[in-house]
Amino acid sequence: ATGLLGDALGRPLRDLRISVTDRCNFRCSYCMPKEVFDKDYQYLPHGALLSFEEITRVARLFAAHGVQKIRLTGGEPLLRKNLEILVGQLAALRTAEGRPLDLTLTTNGSLLARKAAALKAAGLQRVTVSLDGLDDKVFRAMNDVDFPVAEVLAGIEAAQAAGLGPIKVNMVVKRGTNDDQILPMARHFKGTGIVLRFIEYMDVGATNGWRMDEVLPSAELIERIQRELPLVPLDPTAPGETAERWAYADGSGEIGAISSVTQAFCGDCNRARLSTEGQLYLCLFATEGHDLRHLIRGGASDAELASAIGAIWQGRDDRYSQLRASLPPEPGSGKRRVEMSYIGG
Ligand code: GTP
Ligand code: 5AD
Ligand code: SF4
Ligand code: SF4
Repeated sequence: ATGLLGDALGRPLRDLRISVTDRCNFRCSYCMPKEVFDKDYQYLPHGALLSFEEITRVARLFAAHGVQKIRLTGGEPLLRKNLEILVGQLAALRTAEGRPLDLTLTTNGSLLARKAAALKAAGLQRVTVSLDGLDDKVFRAMNDVDFPVAEVLAGIEAAQAAGLGPIKVNMVVKRGTNDDQILPMARHFKGTGIVLRFIEYMDVGATNGWRMDEVLPSAELIERIQRELPLVPLDPTAPGETAERWAYADGSGEIGAISSVTQAFCGDCNRARLSTEGQLYLCLFATEGHDLRHLIRGGASDAELASAIGAIWQGRDDRYSQLRASLPPEPGSGKRRVEMSYIGG
């Protein structure tokens, strides 16, 4: 256990994001557009998925390398059967310093009302819920499966009641689609203790038809909120943080702006991503992963696996968002960027 592992740009490894399924019951147009993710789409076969034991083993080795936080993602992670068993196994892990990990999960909230209590009991600390608007028409169109706002709100309430927290809500903002929901969302969550974060619509994956004119720059977003609800900037709490934080001037809580497009935060990026089938990705915008599953299933010892992970991290020089402006619009040599539903957020 080094805890001092740095990548090629000197960035430590702190955050491991584990995708537990590539499936989702929503079809958000910016993530899993229906035309691509239709009934013929080939999801990963069951045998390709890492088992809970395999995931926990890899996570333990990452923790020894300095990881402090583990986030479960998907697709929709609550679609993975018996997820609370995995949560229980991960909750028992310790950081290299001997402390419990920050253990959290990103969900669309659709199954949260049913599962919040069991997740908490298993040792999950907090959740982040995605919600793109309060207006039912807008939200049903964005999730594209006609899912109602009220059920997501019920999920958030159940999570609060179960003691999962602090709860965050992520809203992806698309100009012309849901930017009229910014203020209603801000007003709704102001004073609740829930931290609402606005995410710039990103060019992640290769299927969402991303266009710059649909991005609402965070500077403009903050200006719009500021006009109605005065804000004061907050200092970052940790290096490599995704969100720029703002507090309501009247003391009724905070919001965040995640500006991957207009203000890249690659400089301190300490996030590694493990796909459902055990590919290690070093960037959300990577075209290729590093296959850990063949090591895991090929009988590698803990020491061998840990050293492979260390070497992969040490070779990392990814900083896509910083380079975006100077890169060609499509990744070179015919390679496609990995989909968000495959690698998690
Ligand atoms: P906490 O603040 O600890 O809850 O975690 P976090 O900030 O990592 O939050 P979360 O996982 O909710 O990330 C929010 C969103 O930011 C994700 O869904 C992505 O859309 C985006 N995001 C997270 N990490 C990265 C990253 O490394 N690069 C880019 N470009 N976007 C990211
Ligand atoms: N741009 C920005 N955020 C996205 N997410 C999914 N796709 C995109 C995109 N293209 C967000 C989801 C969720 C998290 C998993 O990632 O809304 O909050
Ligand atoms: Fe599902 Fe989340 Fe992607 Fe929407 S953003 S399709 S809820 S994985
Ligand atoms: Fe990290 Fe890649 Fe996101 Fe930059 S674009 S912050 S390197 S995941």
